[in-house]
Amino acid sequence: VEKLIDTAIEQLKFSYTPYSNFKVGAALLTKSGKIYTGCNIENAAYTPTNCAERTAIFKCVSDQKTRIKKIAIASDSNEFTWPCGICRQVMSEFMDSDGIIILENHGLIKKFKLDELLPHSFGACDIKTE
Ligand code: THU
Repeated sequence: VEKLIDTAIEQLKFSYTPYSNFKVGAALLTKSGKIYTGCNIENAAYTPTNCAERTAIFKCVSDQKTRIKKIAIASDSNEFTWPCGICRQVMSEFMDSDGIIILENHGLIKKFKLDELLPHSFGACDIKTE
């Protein structure tokens, strides 16, 4: 967990945030034991902005077919940075409901299961196909 947090913090230096200047870093651990990193990447048109969590998840999924066990999130803010709703939904596609989300802020840590941050979620099992 400490390594994952340190790796997320290291990612802050890669954040591309000319519009918000709000830097976020993420690092995830796959069930196969690999670590993937991500930072937030903003855009002049605003909506194409990609959060740090999704950058890490998309790098992981595009590289190998595996499930995600844990994801750590760090920012340069004075508060804990909570994953946005879109990132929680993307996590739910590739993490089990008991997958772990770790938030770091100035050495303090909070840990949650995905199910706590995204209860009653919509997922693959809700889509009925003939
Ligand atoms: N952001 C993340 O990267 N992750 C989060 O969990 C919350 C928000 C980014 C998106 C944008 O670049 C900046 O933070 C301000 O919203």
